[in-house]
Amino acid sequence: MIEAITSIKNFNEFKKSIFKGKIFKFHNSEFAFKIISEIKKEIKNYYDKDLSFIHTEENAEIISKDLIRILKNNKLFLKIFKNFLKEINFNIDDCHRDKFVVRISPAEFKRANYEASRIGIHRDTWGTNIFEQINWWAPINNIDISNTLIFYPEYFNKPIINTTDNWDLDTYLTRRKLGKFNYPSAPKLKEDLQKNTRVFPINIKPGEVLCFSGSHLHRSSKEDSKITRFSYEIRTVSTSDIENKIKAPNVDCELKKQYPKIFKHFYSNETLKISR
Ligand SMILES: [Fe+2]
Repeated sequence: MIEAITSIKNFNEFKKSIFKGKIFKFHNSEFAFKIISEIKKEIKNYYDKDLSFIHTEENAEIISKDLIRILKNNKLFLKIFKNFLKEINFNIDDCHRDKFVVRISPAEFKRANYEASRIGIHRDTWGTNIFEQINWWAPINNIDISNTLIFYPEYFNKPIINTTDNWDLDTYLTRRKLGKFNYPSAPKLKEDLQKNTRVFPINIKPGEVLCFSGSHLHRSSKEDSKITRFSYEIRTVSTSDIENKIKAPNVDCELKKQYPKIFKHFYSNETLKISR
């Protein structure tokens, strides 16, 4: 299900595979390593110890909160990521992206909160209702199975009951701006996974970048871990995929509208518009 590659040979085939549920892992990219070194450089100015053990600090939550603030909206990270996409032959001429986000996933599962989070089972498309969406995700420090991403590939084409019929991104964003965190950051499951569902944990190293359809059902590992995970993520949508209807199937999302407004064009910075 995962294919490790260094670059894209045939862009159309690559896209089709993604939207059929294939997961790619890019490796040996100069720019992927550069992003990590720049993120680490920025972190080091504020916190100079081993990131994996940040949870052992008495004020770990405050440090995490400060780091997330420091690493937010960094133009250099986005610029290097753009170069990474070019390096792997991912065409960005008609491509929009959301924010480049560094996430801290605490060692202890129950300590996850809005600043440092481990996210429960979801599809990213439950947030936007855009099935041409591609997710990019990469660890910054060494992680293991106890603090990674977990996929449930059988659910790519299979519905699961969820709260999308009752969730709205605008409401969430408005409340977050006001500092209110009592509205769920994403829709949730309303039923358990079927027994014996295949669990697919991601084995990945810093410098490698995971690329998958935003429709994949996934979560963070939920056991307590000995390490805190630092990772980054960003999502892209290409207008040619919208025009050519190259996308993942919608099996269970009941959002009332789409939210293209979170995506900006890589070059012009214009907001994505979708007219169907
Ligand atoms: Fe996600």
